[in-house]
Amino acid sequence: MEWKTIIEPFKIKTVEPLGITTREERQAILAAAHYNLFNIRAEKVLIDLLTDSGTGAMSAAQWGGIMNGDESYAGARSYYNFESEVKRLTGFDEIIPVHQGRAAEKILFTVIGGKGKYIISNSHFDTTRANVEFSGAQAMDFPVKEAMEFDKPAPFKGNADVAAMEKFIKEKGAASIPLCVMTVTNNSLGGQPVSMENLKAVQNLCRKFGIPMFLDCARFAENAYFIKLREKGYAQCPVREIAESMFELADGAWMSSKKDALVNIGGFLAMNNRDWSGKARQLLILTEGFSTYGGLAGRDLEAIAIGLREVLDENYLQYRIRSTQYLGEGLLGHGVPIINPPGGHGVYVNAKKFLPHIKPANFPAQALACALYLEGGIRSVEIGTLMFGKRDKDGVYQAAPMELVRLAIPRRVYTQSHIDYVIEVFGYLAANKKNIKGLDIVEAPAILPHFTAKLKPAK
Ligand code: F0G
Repeated sequence: MEWKTIIEPFKIKTVEPLGITTREERQAILAAAHYNLFNIRAEKVLIDLLTDSGTGAMSAAQWGGIMNGDESYAGARSYYNFESEVKRLTGFDEIIPVHQGRAAEKILFTVIGGKGKYIISNSHFDTTRANVEFSGAQAMDFPVKEAMEFDKPAPFKGNADVAAMEKFIKEKGAASIPLCVMTVTNNSLGGQPVSMENLKAVQNLCRKFGIPMFLDCARFAENAYFIKLREKGYAQCPVREIAESMFELADGAWMSSKKDALVNIGGFLAMNNRDWSGKARQLLILTEGFSTYGGLAGRDLEAIAIGLREVLDENYLQYRIRSTQYLGEGLLGHGVPIINPPGGHGVYVNAKKFLPHIKPANFPAQALACALYLEGGIRSVEIGTLMFGKRDKDGVYQAAPMELVRLAIPRRVYTQSHIDYVIEVFGYLAANKKNIKGLDIVEAPAILPHFTAKLKPAK
């Protein structure tokens, strides 16, 4: 018998209480936080969907690994466990541990970036873009058209537009393009997967012009599982093999292990190019630590090695992808527009369509994120006019191409009833959306304004 209920494939050994508050308390908390959810103490959040990064629950096996961690400065056993697991998965020779994804980005783009260069991608994640641009290079995104058609389902909205990429390479010349990055899944545009076919096409293009292709593989396992579910010819293929095939197409990768390695901190940079890896290790020693720990404790490396195996368990991935879909279906059921279908790690609500009465200059997605906290104690993140933070010469905020609220789901943390609660709160917001009002900026820095901006209800 194939049962239709897909259950959480784990039982709970340790619990922690949720932050229960009243609406009245939350009203005061929001005002004190200047309507910026980054300023709210986590203890005052009931369901925290701010990010899936570093917020997952580790398994008993990972906690066991933590106790077994070897804390030797050089040549720790935990490093070799970590290195062999990353090598087995990715097939790359040079494995460099870092404390999180952006540390790998900073090191890599210090080595290969610089003025007059371009990095091409399906879409850069915001820290990737910031690190590319900090090096003096330019970050160019080539998403497919379907990526911006939020309502219309398509299986692989994370794909790159290969023709547009080729046109750009011909225009600028391959010599000015040291790298192509495929972000799997594509976080900036809805956590949408990239197909194997598209990875192959991008690899072919890059080969033709002698440009190396790397994966930003924070959510590689979710991407591989989507390939199994949606791409012709992969239904019977074990997810580990699909993941290995993805890495085989690439010349290197970096990972924020805080996502699909099921740990709270960590990352790596991996490649075959010894010239680059040699330079990267020099920078690693300068900023992160010695090459066998890279800013992590031995126990962290141990937990990553175990997490990289656990994440490829297909029962886990089935639950993971199903639970995100379940939230998406619930929101659609209340008429809440989302990026459809939902991605791997979260549901992205289209606030522009949900709250047409709020102008972009009054930050509709931020207003929705605040309403979600006020009514339900739920924390989410704005991806819109506030995050992109583009201002004209008079300091007026320019409407971003999208106004989204991301509900990112931590791994193995919340149960179905938590998600049912989130859906119920959205039902209330949908029925009372006229009461949601826009926001005005009080003050905001020029760089990454969303983290520290202060806002107030618009008049
Ligand atoms: N690449 C991708 C695709 C990411 O999603 C992230 C982080 C990074 C790189 C940077 O890694 O945080 O370990 O330094 N994404 C988090 C998020 C912050 O909330 O989506 P990091």
